[in-house]
Amino acid sequence: MKITSKELRKAWLNFYKNKGHVDIGAVSLIGDGTTGVMFNVAGMQPLMPYLLGKKHPMGTRLCNVQGCVRTVDIDSVGDASHFTFFEMMGNWSLGDYFKKEKTAWTFELLTKVFGLDKNKICATVFAGNESAPRDEETANYLKELGIKPENIYYKGKDDNWWELEGTVGTPCGPDNEWFYPITDEKCCDNCDIDCSCGRFVEIGNDVYMQYEKLENGYKPLKNKNVDTGFGFERMLMFLNGIKDGYQTDLFLDVIGYMEKVLNVKYGENEETTKSLRIIADHIRTAVMLIGDENGIVPSNVGAGYILRRLLRRAIRHANKINLKPENIIEVAKIYIEKVYNEAYPNLIAKEDYVLSEIQKEMDKFNKALEQGLKEFDKVLFGIQKHKEFAKLKGEEVKDEISGKAAFRLYDTFGFPLELTVELAQEKGFSVDENGFKNAFTEHQEKSKAVAKGEFKSGLGDSSEQTIKYHTATHLLNAALKLVLGKDCHQMGSNITPERLRFDFPCDHKLSSEEIEKIENIINGWISEGLDVTKEEMKKERAVEIGAEHQFIERYPDIVSVYSIGNVSKEICTGPHVSNTKELGTFKIAKEESSSAGVRRIKGILK
Ligand code: ALA
Repeated sequence: MKITSKELRKAWLNFYKNKGHVDIGAVSLIGDGTTGVMFNVAGMQPLMPYLLGKKHPMGTRLCNVQGCVRTVDIDSVGDASHFTFFEMMGNWSLGDYFKKEKTAWTFELLTKVFGLDKNKICATVFAGNESAPRDEETANYLKELGIKPENIYYKGKDDNWWELEGTVGTPCGPDNEWFYPITDEKCCDNCDIDCSCGRFVEIGNDVYMQYEKLENGYKPLKNKNVDTGFGFERMLMFLNGIKDGYQTDLFLDVIGYMEKVLNVKYGENEETTKSLRIIADHIRTAVMLIGDENGIVPSNVGAGYILRRLLRRAIRHANKINLKPENIIEVAKIYIEKVYNEAYPNLIAKEDYVLSEIQKEMDKFNKALEQGLKEFDKVLFGIQKHKEFAKLKGEEVKDEISGKAAFRLYDTFGFPLELTVELAQEKGFSVDENGFKNAFTEHQEKSKAVAKGEFKSGLGDSSEQTIKYHTATHLLNAALKLVLGKDCHQMGSNITPERLRFDFPCDHKLSSEEIEKIENIINGWISEGLDVTKEEMKKERAVEIGAEHQFIERYPDIVSVYSIGNVSKEICTGPHVSNTKELGTFKIAKEESSSAGVRRIKGILK
């Protein structure tokens, strides 16, 4: 190793500190909501207000190494160069120095500190368009420094203009990108920075942030700023002549540990190597997101859902290569205690919490996974059968999992879409991803309507009889927990004036004893004459007091909790009877399978 990650971090910060910059340290990875971006996607993002003119308390020359999270390429993680977490080495001039100093310093850093040959350095500058002029100024400075004129390229907006796409009111401008060949051997006579052979690596860029992005066009900023970004992982690979990012010292301990416990060799088997990379990447990002100063936990919405997807994909790959949950915890520990202990001391402070959140998600997912994989096999089996029948009729059926089936795997078994896609691909199937999105939207709309009370908790109408069945449903939910275990819960419910229907997870057909027990418990509660009461509270409070709920993220902030005596508590929009005496006698009319691992009860009141 020519330079370690810890040395590179120091080299960058020391260089700019010697040029009068203050190290402002890394800030939270979680977006503050001002840019509509969920995570910090670039080192400059937290500095946006200052690039637009606000005074920074630490001055006009700043530097740091900032963590970033980009998950758009999550599917590509598994190859040698994609990461969902990465760091960016940055430095900024807030209306202080500009192009002359910046070109000189980047040049000095590359040639003096990192020992690059100025004759091989290549650079690109902005070719100009209707918004901003051709950047001859930067090109001239580069030439004065000794970069060969033939190594300087002018490029258009696609290459040499930096802005946060899809935003308005953000700083932006032309940039100067720096390239270097990793070998002197040309693949052909025309082998230059544009050649697809990959001989040249882009090692970083200096953005001259002097415009503000408007709805249509740009306007000059009062200050002329510099925003420099050099990818930390990429630079580490480049300086050490490593082509595979997972072979840098950021990952060596983690990969080495997994090789040891599994008795495998990284790089030997393609599938195993892919799984090792996915685990190494996703667990690193999960550690960073949970341990962040504004840390998040896995959930079903927003940033929490992205974290959940990362963890679940890592867990799935761990299962695939027989890596145990305790090994995953060890991987997380290595990152916290060994790799990022100096740069991210907050992780050490939150270590127990981070590890327990990962553990919780593993427990939760591994439980659902077993059932879900059975369901998945059933779906494939169904397609096979369908195909066989279709063939007899001379029709063709695609090897495609329907959007509805993929949504069921998501909704009932917690399978993120990409997990279903990945599993499907392994068996030579595809997934109707648009169909999934439609099913998802449809479901969300229904849930919103439920939350707003439009469907009155899924009741088709509010007749006296449906209201009774609604209260009986809560009693059934509570009774099932007593008979089948406290993990039993509502997975689906449908009420008409004639009956209630209730789906719940259960791996066996209920015995007649169990059915009798359930009926007796409910009828006991009915004859006790329990009062039904309603209380409004914050949804967090409702969860705290143990109220039953399905998707907490989908409820409004203030929810109603219905209690029946002290036997049941559920978040619900009502309506309900006021005393269980009104219900009459409850009877289970039918008990049947709804789908794999899910049973269905039809209940009546007499
Ligand atoms: N903002 C620039 C980048 O992210 C420096 O590459």
